[in-house]
Amino acid sequence: MPFDIEMIKEVYAKYPERIEAARKVVQKPLTLTEKILYSHLTDGPATKVHERGSSYVDFQPDRVAMQDATAQMALLQFMQAGKDKVAVPSTVHCDHLILAKDGAKEDLKNSINASGEVFSFLESVSNKYGIGFWKPGAGIIHQVVLENYAFPGGMMIGTDSHTVNAGGLGMVAIGVGGADAVDVMAGMPWELKFPKLIGVKLTGKLSGWTASKDVILKVAGILTVKGGTGAIVEYFGEGANSLSCTGKGTICNMGAEIGATTSTFGYDEKMEEYLRGTGRAEIADLANQVKEHLTGDPEVYANPEKYFDQVIEINLSELEPHINGPFTPDRATPLSKFAEEVKKNEWPQELEVGLIGSCTNSSYEDITRSASIAKQAIDKNLKAKAEFTITPGSEQVRFTVDRDGYLDTFGQMGGVVLANACGPCIGQWARHTNDPNRKNSIITSFNRNFAKRNDGNPNTHSFVASPEIVTAFAIAGDLTFNPMTDTITNEDGKEVKLDEPQGIEFPPQGFAVEDSGYQAPAKDGSNVDVVVDPESKRLQLLEPFEPWEGTDLKNLKLLIKAKGKCTTDHISMAGPWLRYRGHLDNISNNMLIGAINAFNDSTNSVKNQLTGEYGEVPATQRHYKEEGIGSIVVGDENYGEGSSREHAAMEPRFLGVRAILVKSFARIHETNLKKQGMLALTFDNPSDYDLVQEDDTIDILGLTEFAPGKPMTVVLKHADGSSNSITVNHTYNEGQIEWFKAGSALNLIKKHG
Ligand code: F3S
Repeated sequence: MPFDIEMIKEVYAKYPERIEAARKVVQKPLTLTEKILYSHLTDGPATKVHERGSSYVDFQPDRVAMQDATAQMALLQFMQAGKDKVAVPSTVHCDHLILAKDGAKEDLKNSINASGEVFSFLESVSNKYGIGFWKPGAGIIHQVVLENYAFPGGMMIGTDSHTVNAGGLGMVAIGVGGADAVDVMAGMPWELKFPKLIGVKLTGKLSGWTASKDVILKVAGILTVKGGTGAIVEYFGEGANSLSCTGKGTICNMGAEIGATTSTFGYDEKMEEYLRGTGRAEIADLANQVKEHLTGDPEVYANPEKYFDQVIEINLSELEPHINGPFTPDRATPLSKFAEEVKKNEWPQELEVGLIGSCTNSSYEDITRSASIAKQAIDKNLKAKAEFTITPGSEQVRFTVDRDGYLDTFGQMGGVVLANACGPCIGQWARHTNDPNRKNSIITSFNRNFAKRNDGNPNTHSFVASPEIVTAFAIAGDLTFNPMTDTITNEDGKEVKLDEPQGIEFPPQGFAVEDSGYQAPAKDGSNVDVVVDPESKRLQLLEPFEPWEGTDLKNLKLLIKAKGKCTTDHISMAGPWLRYRGHLDNISNNMLIGAINAFNDSTNSVKNQLTGEYGEVPATQRHYKEEGIGSIVVGDENYGEGSSREHAAMEPRFLGVRAILVKSFARIHETNLKKQGMLALTFDNPSDYDLVQEDDTIDILGLTEFAPGKPMTVVLKHADGSSNSITVNHTYNEGQIEWFKAGSALNLIKKHG
């Protein structure tokens, strides 16, 4: 059994006391979200109310999950912490680095060849530090987590935005950057702004063509891609209880598309069934003992307007299938209006590919409902007009649906089964097309549909729907088709109509798998060697950053004064650089290449003060580093907004930048800088930004008296001999100042064990 039953017992044992404490301070009935959050405070039972939307709170999550692309830097950093083992149960899942091209077997083989080095590294680090390892082909992180690790009332973080999928099994599961995962694995608290709460009341019952996916497609249309920002969405009501557990997972999964911190559902019979059906009866028994704590208080659900910050109500009995897109997941169109929209907007009517599966929609229920449509195509002598692919979410699902004959059904319809991995969902798709730039339409049962996401082609119009709708559309090959009302001409020239899909939540013979792809770590990992080839282009062991030298910083060179928006993408670009996520030196060659230099309005062109020449930002900084000269980056408002990517903080630190001085920081990036031992400073007077000149040499004074709330002084020494002395602020607390002094948070953990 890969799950950790002792940990779950401990979590549940704390529940009664912690919820009582939360009730005392909140003095109101509690939502499920509040119960979970207040039960996971680092400092034990609640002693005060945490303000929604404003208090920063330290939590202690129960688990960590990482996918292969983000796990690399997370684990390289964790190795620096000097720990023998991870502090909480953790897993690594190899799913993102697998390219979909010719079908599961070939693709897996080729991808293991191409990224074997990364997989072996992840495997050996996992083995050494007590981390469960799911090898390539085992499945997609979120489906594997739902099947094996998620548990009602638990709290987890994962280094992928769709970690939220585990809300389907009643967790608060949140997507984070690698640095956060390192903290939790190293036993440090994890900080989150106490979220606002959105309640979604579901009434009625799904029927016919409508699926769980349509709930979130509808919610995305209501809330838009930003509507859930800073909030946790809690679903409740008789409609919620009627949805299958995996259907709940689908809804929570796509909560990422509305920007929600996460989404969750209260524990119910469907979850109990799913736990028992996936070999976790023990967890179901434990959950039943604390049942009342694993859902919101009845009063909350009876009068939701009083307890949630926003309430939405959806009647499942009236809900229509939806199709969202193109280019954004919140452009929601009911099926009955879709043909009209296609024509009105001149979206390419011919559908070229239908893709089902992914972490969002590859449950047994999804597959059986889609297969019931595919079976009709075969029986009614219909030939699928579009290409059709199936991406199972896990080997357990794949093996089971194969055993039960469903993959064969898809095969007869002309479907191609891809590896149990992300593949086309993350652009790892070598799509077969005669013109990679042609304007075209595809439809998927995935979650995201931004331009270029699936196949890299900005002209691909990608739509998102339930797997059964995708299957019906693939058969029709036409976006204006409405399976509820329209007929299709079959191979005999007859007009035939598709019947409503039929699905089964649980395999009648139970789930089965021969090799789940799980590898338990060594009991004692002390003898396990983690080998990284020093010549590797993709992986590089980290060296600890140097501790602070104990003096003020003098004669720093201005590296760049960035103008306007400078997000983590401007600081550490993605795209082709993803390849180097595990190699700090190589990925540092993208440092700030997207930032606009305020002095020439160009990107990646800054003046090298040692030569007077203009050069690329990373090369210029490497020159300063070689000469032993520190530098400083100056930035505008909200510097570092975007993702929680720790590379954006590690790269400047690695290349010898000593401070980032900006008008204001995006909070997560500011924390990441602090964690890496970098000085993160803000102008006391934002207009002092204008005083910074291209040839400035800069001193930072006040470091020897570095204290919380105490400003420092920055002296801008200009080329003409004049200077400006300005006040700068910081937000370091005592502990964070220690990180700075030690050279990084990890150095400090290592020092204190
Ligand atoms: Fe993978 Fe796409 Fe899900 S990238 S984790 S299948 S959202």
